[in-house]
Amino acid sequence: TLINGTETFAAARKGHYAVGAFNTNNLEWTRAILAAGQETNTPVLIQSSMGAAKYMGGYKVVKTLVENEIESMNITVPVIMHLDHGNYEAAKEAIAAGYNSVMFDGHDLPFDENLEKTKEVVALAHAKGISVEAEVGSIGGEEDGIIGEGELADVEEAKTLAATGVDYLAVGIGNIHGVYPANWKGLNFDRLQEIADVVKTPLVLHGGSGIPKEQIVKAISMGISKVNVNTEQQIAWAKAVRAYFEADKDKEDKGFDPRKVLAPGTEAIKNTVKERIEWFGTPSL
Ligand code: G3H
Ligand code: ZN
Repeated sequence: TLINGTETFAAARKGHYAVGAFNTNNLEWTRAILAAGQETNTPVLIQSSMGAAKYMGGYKVVKTLVENEIESMNITVPVIMHLDHGNYEAAKEAIAAGYNSVMFDGHDLPFDENLEKTKEVVALAHAKGISVEAEVGSIGGEEDGIIGEGELADVEEAKTLAATGVDYLAVGIGNIHGVYPANWKGLNFDRLQEIADVVKTPLVLHGGSGIPKEQIVKAISMGISKVNVNTEQQIAWAKAVRAYFEADKDKEDKGFDPRKVLAPGTEAIKNTVKERIEWFGTPSL
């Protein structure tokens, strides 16, 4: 069943665990993420960036694909269909296409404008029972064209943004999209604590790939309830597909049937997602 994320993440914050948010890119990614949720018997959030939705042919295609796979794969765990890092237009489009949850990412706007637009998205979304994520501070690095300076979330701004009634709030706490540089200083737990003390909204950790498990577990114990992971699945997929091509290279029937070529990649994504679900302590239903 497709559901919004409001109760799932509120329960996660209360229960000191997190639910993973995994990015899809196509059919195989969608199947791998859904299968991981089903096999662990946990709710799962599947999200598309604006870029991924464009790649797949639009928000309606993504939504239809996810719905169709839930049915044909007999997925019985709750699934949240979410827009990742949407601008204002994308949030409106995803809402119209029937997403259950949207992120309005206003990190590149002056704070007042981020606040105003977040309020508008909350009004639009909540009228339809759709959950909303907002962002305060920013995530360093780049993902799918979303570039951030990585400035730390301001505690007062976090409070103000949470007061709009958003269902979850992404915070910049030294986290970075993509691969972490060797000299990365780690998550800023002091800032996370300051925010968690005054904001009871479920908090979101972006850039979940490449953060050591201990740091993720600690962040979750402090109030992180949603962890976004994308690059990790891409790396696992690429490694598995590359290995497929490398193995038995000279066999004649190898290396051109896409269903065979992509299968080990799909399995690798599924296993990565399952491992993360275990890290996050998402309880079985
Ligand atoms: O919004 C998506 C995420 O923040 C994923 O980041 O690719 O570094 O895991 P990542
Ligand atoms: Zn992100």
